[in-house]
Amino acid sequence: QQGTDLMGETVLITAGGTREPIDAVRFIGNRSSGKMGFALAAAARARGAEVILISASTTLPVPAGCTHIRVTTGAQMEQTALAELPRASMVIMAAAVSDYQVLSPSAQKIKKTETLTLELTRTPDILRQIVQQRRAGTVVVGFAAETEHVVEEGRRKLREKGADLIVANDVSRAGSGFDADHNAGTLIFEAGQQVIPLSTKREMAERILNSATSIARQLRGK
Ligand code: C5P
Repeated sequence: QQGTDLMGETVLITAGGTREPIDAVRFIGNRSSGKMGFALAAAARARGAEVILISASTTLPVPAGCTHIRVTTGAQMEQTALAELPRASMVIMAAAVSDYQVLSPSAQKIKKTETLTLELTRTPDILRQIVQQRRAGTVVVGFAAETEHVVEEGRRKLREKGADLIVANDVSRAGSGFDADHNAGTLIFEAGQQVIPLSTKREMAERILNSATSIARQLRGK
């Protein structure tokens, strides 16, 4: 759509929802479908970028020409993303990383009992580490999936995580957000914000890439 404006860029994208094992057959997961991340990968590739797509728990077809790495847990996604980071000039973290992992998953299937208590610990915040470890000029984009105070939460995340751009979306809206083909939201950056009306995930991806490209130009002083 935009020609080859991303030629020379390497875009690292995370997509899908991580799964944290409880035992041999069960996991903690979430409703992320991976569609937004895969739409970003297809759009970035079509605009000439090299794309490294790290995905969890999705069986969507991988867009042609993208390097694809499949992971399961947040810890695997962290390890893979940090290993690929040195190659990246843009990072877009569309994955829904589970906030918690089971402290000691059981290697055997846990037998049914009337109640079961699991001890959970936080997963590593990959986005925060990416921000800390990126080289100068690498643009970092995060997502904020919220059900209330969407824009305020998005701006707080921009500050707290140190990302260059946050895509804030209201996942409680019908027909948009998790597992939908459409999405809507607000792009939040230091200098301002831009509302994205309900559009296809591909259209939304193009707008996110437009914004990331203009931030890249500013960061790199061009
Ligand atoms: O803090 P919250 O989970 O709402 O932040 C969402 C953003 O941070 C998303 O871009 C998501 O991919 C990223 N994230 C991450 N590692 C985590 C949790 C979230 O990279 N453990």
